[in-house]
Amino acid sequence: MNLTKKKCLIAYFSRKGQNYVGGKIVNLKVGNTEVVAKMIQKITGGDMFHIESVTAYPKDYGEITEVAKNELRTRARPKLTGRVENMGVYNMIFLGYPNWWGTPPMAVFTLLESYDFSGKTIAPFCTHEGSGMGHSEPD
Ligand SMILES: Cc1cc2nc3c(=O)[nH]c(=O)nc-3n(C[C@H](O)[C@H](O)[C@H](O)COP(=O)(O)O)c2cc1C
Repeated sequence: MNLTKKKCLIAYFSRKGQNYVGGKIVNLKVGNTEVVAKMIQKITGGDMFHIESVTAYPKDYGEITEVAKNELRTRARPKLTGRVENMGVYNMIFLGYPNWWGTPPMAVFTLLESYDFSGKTIAPFCTHEGSGMGHSEPD
């Protein structure tokens, strides 16, 4: 992909804390998706935006799976802590998220429904524990 004429934004959701990695629960100091987002930033020189819900997610793995399941069931649109003020200037958006129950965390949908992305290219990237992108792309 030729990015020379592109103004890139790397918007990502990532949660540090307990997670299931390689078959066991570990405490991640930096979330997996954030690690990848930083790699993309280095390559593209783009701006970063961390998609964060106002209500912080539990660090406990058992608790977060329940909270996430509930948000998915109710099609929640959690309020975000911030906005991308200058979304208009970006024409290439790398959108990163973990696979949560087969789809992105609901906060990612809040972001997607908050701006007009007409004419912009969105390149999704997803981290997961085996289910790949799930059904996140059509979602
Ligand atoms: C609530 C929740 C649901 C998850 N659901 C799935 C899943 O359905 N499939 C999968 O492969 N991994 C699943 N995972 C694992 C995460 O996708 C994986 O650990 C991801 O890299 C976490 O990214 P992060 O550290 O940036 O938040 C889930 C993790 C959590 C916390």
